[in-house]
Amino acid sequence: MKHLLSTADLSAEKAIEILDTSLEMLQTQSREQRKLPTLRGKTVVNLFFEDSTRTRISFEAAAKRLSADVINFSSQGSSVSKGESLKDTAQTLEAMGADAVIVRHSSSGAAHLLANRGWISASVINAGDGTHEHPTQALLDAFTLRSRFAELAGKTPAGIDLKDKKVMIVGDILHSRVARSNISLLSKLGAKVYVVAPSTLLPIADTSPITKSFVNLDLAIREVEPDAVMMLRLQSERMRGTFFPSAKEFTSGWGLTAGRFAALPKHTLVMHPGPMNRGVEISSVAADSERSTIIEQVANGVAVRMAVLYHTLSGGAK
Ligand code: CP
Repeated sequence: MKHLLSTADLSAEKAIEILDTSLEMLQTQSREQRKLPTLRGKTVVNLFFEDSTRTRISFEAAAKRLSADVINFSSQGSSVSKGESLKDTAQTLEAMGADAVIVRHSSSGAAHLLANRGWISASVINAGDGTHEHPTQALLDAFTLRSRFAELAGKTPAGIDLKDKKVMIVGDILHSRVARSNISLLSKLGAKVYVVAPSTLLPIADTSPITKSFVNLDLAIREVEPDAVMMLRLQSERMRGTFFPSAKEFTSGWGLTAGRFAALPKHTLVMHPGPMNRGVEISSVAADSERSTIIEQVANGVAVRMAVLYHTLSGGAK
């Protein structure tokens, strides 16, 4: 696998292979010596045109744990303010020896453009492009679900599939690249994916492979009895208008309040890709509960990104 641009490009088999490698990577991280020599001599560039805490830092940690050199680029403070384009910026960084470019950009399709125009020859990994995709987030979410379901079943995650598991994604579906990547990947892995949002924040075009869409969260919880709920932040930085009357009304209709958390089936896991807006889409009672996987998702992100770097930079031998 040379690039990772979207979950839509991944077969179920390849996704499972990456998840299995992620488990091997995670197991190496509890050793006293956590650094592996796998990518010694390689250079990874973090090319971030949008803010990030989890994705940028975990890619940096992942690359360093595999012994790669890391160059961090942030558009703030760079020559982008002088009008330098994505192409010229990427070519400049490749000239400094990049083997992989991890790109986050506000424009949907930016990672595809870098990979497919022949501008650079390095591997391209999409770290989030506009409202389009965030494939490593979906992989780490699937990895976290497999781990938790395995724990509940007393099995190893490698033997667990997500077949018929019910995952409900709630909130700003329309603007969310996390939702898009998860809908594509989780359904490929056999899960039933439900989405819940105000009608103004639901996609209106072809909604396959979503199992069912709801506008009423309380009804959705009663009808579906989900195995996991994934709460999404309002992506106000991508909104070009008013999509609901107020944040308060959004919380009352679509937030995982303490009352709704209590109404969930007792086995339902609570997920969030972060960053959270506590008190808006998720209450602290839900976010900090034992059934919350939010911190685990962050920790698993390092192992999953180690696996993705391994698959893209080691020639896809595994
Ligand atoms: N989940 C996620 O992409 O978080 P960051 O924006 O902090 O990278």
